[in-house]
Order: sequence, then C-alpha cells, then structure tokens
Amino acid sequence: MKQRIEEAKKILLDNRKNGYTLPTNNKLYPAQWNWDSAFIALGYSYFNLDYALEEMETLLAGQWDDGMIPHILFHDDDTTYFPNHTTWKCGKNIPSSGITQPPVIASILKIILGNQEINEGHNNRVVQIIKKIKKYHDWFIKFRDPNKTGLISILHPWESGYDNSPIWDVPMSNINVDKELHYQRRDLEVSNSDERPLKKDYDRYITIRDQFREVNYDPNKLYNISVFNVVDVGFNAIFLKASKDLLKISKSFDLDFQDLNEFISLNEKRLLGLFSEENNNFLSQDLKTNNNLNIPSITNYFTLFADLNDDKINKKLIANLKNHNSDEKYFFSSIDPKHETFNEKRYWRGPVWINCNWLVYQGLKNKDKEYSNLLKKRTIELIEEKGFHEYYSCKNGNVMGANNFSWSASLYLDLVLEN
Ligand code: SER
Repeated sequence: MKQRIEEAKKILLDNRKNGYTLPTNNKLYPAQWNWDSAFIALGYSYFNLDYALEEMETLLAGQWDDGMIPHILFHDDDTTYFPNHTTWKCGKNIPSSGITQPPVIASILKIILGNQEINEGHNNRVVQIIKKIKKYHDWFIKFRDPNKTGLISILHPWESGYDNSPIWDVPMSNINVDKELHYQRRDLEVSNSDERPLKKDYDRYITIRDQFREVNYDPNKLYNISVFNVVDVGFNAIFLKASKDLLKISKSFDLDFQDLNEFISLNEKRLLGLFSEENNNFLSQDLKTNNNLNIPSITNYFTLFADLNDDKINKKLIANLKNHNSDEKYFFSSIDPKHETFNEKRYWRGPVWINCNWLVYQGLKNKDKEYSNLLKKRTIELIEEKGFHEYYSCKNGNVMGANNFSWSASLYLDLVLEN
C-alpha cells in the first residue's frame, strides 16, 4: 500500500502542468477537465494543500461571465485533441469548450475543508473559490431549469461525463446528423477503438456542438434549441449534494447563500419523484419526448451520494445496488452486466470507473457501513492489483483506456488516507 501511495502522488505530480493537472500523461486528454480537476484537488489535499487550491483556482479562472464553468479548458496551443480550442471557438480568458460537466467541486471542497487545517493565508483564497462556485450553481438554476421545475438539464452527453452511456441511446437516436459533417477524431490514435465511443456517437456529439456554436453558446438560447435535453438522475444527484455542501461551507465563511435553500428543497422533492417503484430505481427523463430512460446505470446510484431524505427509498436502492453486478468479480460495472446494452470494454457502457465507485461509496458510508467498507476494500484492491488506469473490466479487472490516470490516483489517496 505504501508503495502505491507514493506512486499515486507521483502520477499527480507528473501530470501536473502550470497550475492544473492533465487527466493522464498520454495524448488522450491533453487539457484541463472540469470534474477531473475537482477529483484531482482532493488527492493533492493529502500532501499539498496549495496545489489542491490552485487546481480549483485554475479551473475557476476559466469561468464564463454568466457563471458557467466549461467542461474543458485549453491552456495551451495543443491541437492533438479533438475537438480542441480551434473548433470550439469560445472561452473567456482561457479557450474552452462551450458546455459544462458534473459540478462535484463544492462537495470536494467541503471534504478538503473538513480534513485540512485552513490557515489565514488560505482563508481568502477559499472564500474566492466558494463565491465562484456559488455563481456556477446560480448558472445551473437559471439556465438549466428555466421553467423552474426543480430539475436541471444536460444538453450534451459530454456534459454528463459518461459520454456514451446507454442512457443516451434513445435521445441520441432521435438526432439527425448534420449532412455536412467533416471532422477527424484523434482519440483512436492513442486508444483502442473497441474501448471508445462509436462513429455514430461522435457524429451526434459534433452535430449538437455545431448547433451550439452557431448561436455562440448563448445560454438563453441553448435550452430551447438543443436537440438533446435530458434530466439525468446522476447529474441531478451530484448537483443536489453539491448545493447542500455549498450551503454548509458558506456558513463557516460567513457567506449568506440562504437563497439556495429554495432550489435544494424543490430539487430533492422532484428527484425523489423520479423514483420508480416498479424498477426499484430512479429513471432519467428525455425532455424532448417526455419519455423515461430506463437503463441500469451505476450513475443512478449517485442518488445515495445526494443523501436523500427518504430512508425507505435509500434502503430499496441499496438492496438493488447489491445485485448490480453481483455475479462479477470486480465492481461496480458502469452498466449492469445482465442488461442488453452492457459492453465489457466500450468506455461508459460497462467498464468499472473509480470515480463512480467513489461517489457511491460516499453515499453508502452513512447508510450501510458494512457494504461501504466492502466497496472501499474492493476498490483499493482493484487498484493495488492492476494499477491506476482509466477504467477496468468487471469480468477480469483488465485495464483499459489511459494509464497513469489522475482521478484514479487521487481517489485512491482519499480512500486509503481518509480519517
Ligand atoms: N470524455 C470526452 C472525450 O472522450 C470529452 O469530455 O474526449
């Protein structure tokens, strides 16, 4: 274990650039990613609080005037990634993508503040970080739930972070691909094609993106023009938990964020309303067709992370979780292996992802101590046995995607070093 701890720290330091950290040191992701950075900050906090704060500060430096924090910040001229800054054509101070990603940053900051001593020098920095995160949450409430339903939408599969999840299969199948589409993928030059999304996925990712670019990513327009508009359970659960955490930390810094209360209550109520007794799980919703999206994805269990105030539902969910991939040696697979859409290797359609295990673990800790300990043990064992990879097969633990993967290293540090 000691050796793996040193290895994890080294991965973060080796992937570190000027104030931010790459998700991996190979060419797959040569920029700063939103939720990667938040997870990465947590790892740094165990051995370098300055780097942890700087990771978040660099991410927040890319915040748009309207409050959005982009899903990618392109800090240099690298064009080996597709789509890079030359094709997004946006960003405030820093060239960026024009969409966002799961807002875990407030929850990560709360954990860091709970673990580490914050001295005078750090205090002001933390206050600035908190204020920017508040602006980010206000952006979601204003622009991603303009009809005040209490549930926020994602407008692109990339916003979820789980790009090619089967959750999006039906909404994506309803999208007509732009006939004039010309682009060249770069991911397949450094990754196996059977571990990455398909061409039909990329055609739609780019079609949606191009439509957004045409209106200059104007947040007042995107919600209505987007051909993809989904209320995703996992994303809303992360947002709800992060809003609760943001409100809690604001109080320790004498900031008045009471206005968040209203959305938090409504968000919780509406999210609970997405629970299906028939499926014993939460169902995402396609707002373009008003249909439920019934896919057994591990991300539905992020609702445990949200600490929903309904013990009965939490119990049912945990019972269901225990069957999610009970027949496989390694867990959790991103999609239930018994489901027809499961694919052992293809990115978010089956492999085990460390951040998913970590989010579910956070939600289980105060609800099922025994099972949370088992999840923690199995996640640590998987990494110690196989190393710090992007994703793993639930069948045999085979490693896939990028190696030296920053969030796997970072979240390993949290699992082994948390109090
Ligand atoms: N995850 C995406 C990719 O594979 C982008 O956010 O490039």
